Amino acid sequence: MRTSREMRLISRPVERMPSDDDVKMIKVVVPDPAAGQVVVRNLFMSIDPGSLLRMRDLSKVDIPNFEVGAPMWSDAVGEVVESAAAGLSPGDIVWHRYGWRDYVVADASHFHQVDPALYPSLSHHLSFGLTAYVGLHVAKVRQGETFFVSSAAGGVGTMAGQVARLCGASRVIGSTGTPDKARYLRESLGFDVAFDYHDGIRQHLPDDLDVYFDNAGGSHLEAAIDALRPHGRAVLCGGVEEIRSGEPRAPRNILSVIGKRLKLQGFYTFDHPDLFPRFAEEFPRWVRRGEVVIAETIVDGLENGLTAVLNLLRGRYLGKVVLRI
Ligand SMILES: NC(=O)c1ccc[n+]([C@@H]2O[C@H](COP(=O)([O-])OP(=O)(O)OC[C@H]3O[C@@H](n4cnc5c(N)ncnc54)[C@H](OP(=O)(O)O)[C@@H]3O)[C@@H](O)[C@H]2O)c1
Repeated sequence: MRTSREMRLISRPVERMPSDDDVKMIKVVVPDPAAGQVVVRNLFMSIDPGSLLRMRDLSKVDIPNFEVGAPMWSDAVGEVVESAAAGLSPGDIVWHRYGWRDYVVADASHFHQVDPALYPSLSHHLSFGLTAYVGLHVAKVRQGETFFVSSAAGGVGTMAGQVARLCGASRVIGSTGTPDKARYLRESLGFDVAFDYHDGIRQHLPDDLDVYFDNAGGSHLEAAIDALRPHGRAVLCGGVEEIRSGEPRAPRNILSVIGKRLKLQGFYTFDHPDLFPRFAEEFPRWVRRGEVVIAETIVDGLENGLTAVLNLLRGRYLGKVVLRI
């Protein structure tokens, strides 16, 4: 008889960071798969600010949230250990969205088989290259443009800066939380400018910014609105400043959006399935050729998942953070 640990949401933190009391690790028996189902043992899961966001009630903003009393979920990679479905066999490696547990039993259609040899590590299937790729297509980055990304040393940011260059951006600027991370962006990922936002943001940006990729919101978005040229564009991917503080954060210069005819566009990765086949063709090739480096931090142990998410928001890691289960 197999047992599985799963992390459940016990209470929703409101306007504060979650604590250990908000989640509980439960041990459950893994059922046999019914016809059409598979049993998957998780190997890696994504640690990202989305887990904190989904602890909230998001019904008003049309983003799926965790249910109180139910297991939490996130992107994960696992190995099929039992199958009662055609098309998937024990040993197959799959990407899915049932993280925060050791095992999952579900319909085979919920799992996407991946090629284990595609990247140097199975954890790389959890990179946020796809989110960066979608955001850059939504922004329509063109040859010769100046591009700025916030939280540039994070999972999305490391990808966005590198992919922007491949999309033709001639000047790539990134903000991050420490001088060491800024140096890494310049020396290892080829950013033209990278700076620590604790020293201020606006003075590091030109007055004719073409595109801003927003992971931070709040004060970063405000500085970018000021720096964007007339008819410049911003794609809004995330809001770590608000997620971290637990309070709404607004740019105070919204009239400039009108004055400069700026375009601010929010996007959600999974709304763009039309781009997935192009991404699947282009991205692994870029990685293989060394044109994109997947920066990653691995943390061990499902029991350390919540601490890892909180440490991520505190800026303790570099690149995409992945939990080894
Ligand atoms: N739209 C979509 O489809 C989509 C998909 C995936 C992710 N997202 C969103 O994209 C954003 C980035 O996700 P990620 O997984 O790549 O996270 P991440 O950037 O790897 O992690 C968050 C980072 O935010 C930085 N940070 C903390 N407080 C900050 C502040 N006040 N101002 C600026 N930066 C601060 C920290 O690094 P430093 O302070 O050291 O820089 C921390 O490492 C998140 O908001 C996430 O929810 C959206």
